[in-house]
Amino acid sequence: MSIAIALDGPAGAGKSTIARQAASKLGYIYVDTGALYRTIGLAAMRRETEPVDSPELDAMLEQIKVELTFNENGEQIVLLDGEDVSSLIRTPEVSMMASKISAVPKVRAYLLDLQRNMAKTNDVIMDGRDIGTVVLPDAQVKIFLTASPEARAGRRYKELIEKGMDVKFEDILSDVIERDYNDTHRETAPLKAAEDSVTVDTTELDFDQSVEKIISVIKEKI
Ligand code: DC
Repeated sequence: MSIAIALDGPAGAGKSTIARQAASKLGYIYVDTGALYRTIGLAAMRRETEPVDSPELDAMLEQIKVELTFNENGEQIVLLDGEDVSSLIRTPEVSMMASKISAVPKVRAYLLDLQRNMAKTNDVIMDGRDIGTVVLPDAQVKIFLTASPEARAGRRYKELIEKGMDVKFEDILSDVIERDYNDTHRETAPLKAAEDSVTVDTTELDFDQSVEKIISVIKEKI
């Protein structure tokens, strides 16, 4: 049987970079499920479809094709109708759209099998909001990774500035707070720690310490 590690937590807790590094050390595949919601968000932005339950959104979900693949370096690539949109989905506008559209139950249902299939055939660290609670409730290890809103906004700010984007810290912090609110208050699969998860708070940990902590939690359980 393949091994599944569910890694959930709020936006900007460092889940993706930490999980990618831990997965590479453990020889697992890293699956970033947020990229799937972002891709649906991008598709809706392109079609000017509102991120709400509607016949337009239903039609869009029927028409689009979302796929996950991996490049030769083992990095995840997400395809929208065959186009590699992995970089295009990283803007603050797409982040906000993804947060809104991920509250629509049909969107969550649409992505469920795709996520579960990834874990059927591979050892995975899967990162998201509802992996331990909904997508992979039988995951052998469940981790809830968190940090203070200020620490999370600070990290995302640094990341975007390094990419040459013109952003303000205050805007990033209010985005983090708004997305936290959306993610924890939606009716379907809200962000919350699974009862059988281990919480890891990275506010005071640097990157290497966070990776070590995650690996030690995993090794203790497997
Ligand atoms: O992890 P991220 O910031 O790339 O995720 C983008 C949005 O997608 C986030 O606001 C919440 C949503 N999301 C979700 O609802 N469920 C997941 N498993 C992953 C992401």
